[in-house]
Amino acid sequence: MAAPEKVTPQTLLDLKRRGQKITALTAYDYPMAKLMDEAGVDVILVGDSLGMVVLGYDSTLPVTMDDVIHHCRAVRRATHRALVVADMPFGSYQTSIDRAVENAVRLVKDGGAEAVKLEGGVSWAATIERIQQAGIPVMGHIGLLPQSVLLSGGYKVQGREIDDIERLLHDADAVQEAGAFSIVLEGIPAPVAKLITQRMNIPTIGIGAGIHCDGQILVVHDVLGLILNHKPKFVRTYAHLREEMEDAFARFIEDVHRGDFPSSEESYTLTDDVERLLEERYGSHSHD
Ligand code: KIV
Repeated sequence: MAAPEKVTPQTLLDLKRRGQKITALTAYDYPMAKLMDEAGVDVILVGDSLGMVVLGYDSTLPVTMDDVIHHCRAVRRATHRALVVADMPFGSYQTSIDRAVENAVRLVKDGGAEAVKLEGGVSWAATIERIQQAGIPVMGHIGLLPQSVLLSGGYKVQGREIDDIERLLHDADAVQEAGAFSIVLEGIPAPVAKLITQRMNIPTIGIGAGIHCDGQILVVHDVLGLILNHKPKFVRTYAHLREEMEDAFARFIEDVHRGDFPSSEESYTLTDDVERLLEERYGSHSHD
């Protein structure tokens, strides 16, 4: 069978032009990335949601460059078709443009990322432009910005009032003009996402942004029903792995306690000759 065609930033632009929807999921490890790549997802994001769904932090703020690189390498090893995008974690691009470029280069060289994503609009246009000039495709991200949670005071839907909507439009324009190849729209009302999607040449990828975006992204733990706390309104759960896992762990513990695991079929055996020798030398203790 011929290898599937690699997804590039250009593929996403072509999909938008053809009116075909883009699919994106987050992944942080090899098996998850392998299964979603084989299923045909277009974009795999090594998101800084890593901090919350894998590392046990209560926000994305503590996630480091080393964290993202470590997980991105695993994802990249598993991925043959999808475009692998790595999130620039909090602090990796906010302090200076030079530092942003250096860190984007690290995500590509050390992590194997094929593009990077950073949060913010107008204020980050110059940063996007310089990273892109360095030869690294950039995915923008506007609307609800988890890395700005200290400033915004929570994870709130953005763009409900006319001033906020206009700010979002300026942000989207600035990200596109800076050279981003696509833009994530997070936590904004569907009609606002529709307006942005219609005026953009680059594809919009929505999360909590309604049906009209050019593509959709979800956090894989949400998709699989591995949510340990609050389930956001926009999440659709396609499996119930939390219940499956809880049941599996409980049954394993029960089987071991009852002496039901492992069975003889699940154990290695000796030949009769070796068994006999063992018994001669060490007595019946050696019997199973
Ligand atoms: O970190 C992440 O998972 C993200 C998505 C929610 C878009 O940025």
